[in-house]
Amino acid sequence: MTQINSKQLPEHVAIIMDGNGRWAKRKGLNRIRGHRKGADTVRKIVTFSREIGIRWLTLYAFSEENWKRPALEVQALMKLLNLFLKNELKEMQENGIQLKTIGRTARLPKTTRQILQDTIDKTSSNSDMTLTLALSYGGRQEILDAILKIVSQIEENKISTSDITEKLVSNSLYTSGMPDPDLLIRTSGEYRISNFLLWQISYSEIYITPTLWPDFGENEYEKALKDYQMRDRRFGARG
Ligand code: IPE
Ligand code: IPE
Ligand code: MG
Repeated sequence: MTQINSKQLPEHVAIIMDGNGRWAKRKGLNRIRGHRKGADTVRKIVTFSREIGIRWLTLYAFSEENWKRPALEVQALMKLLNLFLKNELKEMQENGIQLKTIGRTARLPKTTRQILQDTIDKTSSNSDMTLTLALSYGGRQEILDAILKIVSQIEENKISTSDITEKLVSNSLYTSGMPDPDLLIRTSGEYRISNFLLWQISYSEIYITPTLWPDFGENEYEKALKDYQMRDRRFGARG
């Protein structure tokens, strides 16, 4: 079997972690059990990414639209997030992992915001891998927030309309300073983007697997990376 070529790794991998509910349903379990198992997968994939040398890992953990779910499910997800952050701090410190968030995180419960801020502060000087959690995240909302930011800078005479370039837009997004994802993975076989990183994925390679997120593991991840390495990225130029 071919190995992953460590020289051609994607710099930035983004993952739509989908399928926790279906995993639980197939086993006759409560959805929350699926989320719990999904959190174990997050741990595995973070560790593996760091081990193989991925520089940026961005995980879609909770969308702006996920607030529409029943309060009990939302509460359980927030509790799992709190637990994950508390348990993983040591691992992040030992392995040089920096935590970032993207999204309208002001909507998150106060305890979650506090634990997030604490983890972000404590890991801010780590530089081997940046783990970005998309929380209360929506791609359209992100673009809207960028527009509002740019408009207010114009109103305050800090910039003029001629300063509005692709670069300025990129730098006004939540992902400012991050490279665009090279590889976008979606688990559980849905062929849609679900409002994730709309601006940033314009030239990302997409890998969709029917595997449900709780069953996603190192082998499947390696398969996605190898698949990525076979792709011919042309960016619109002639091949
Ligand atoms: C992904 O699993 C986790 C979140 C969206 C928070 P789902 O909960 O969407 O699982 P399915 O899609 O119902 O299987
Ligand atoms: C996308 O999954 C959001 C996350 C993985 C956090 P959803 O389950 O919310 O997406 P849809 O509803 O299938 O589009
Ligand atoms: Mg889903």
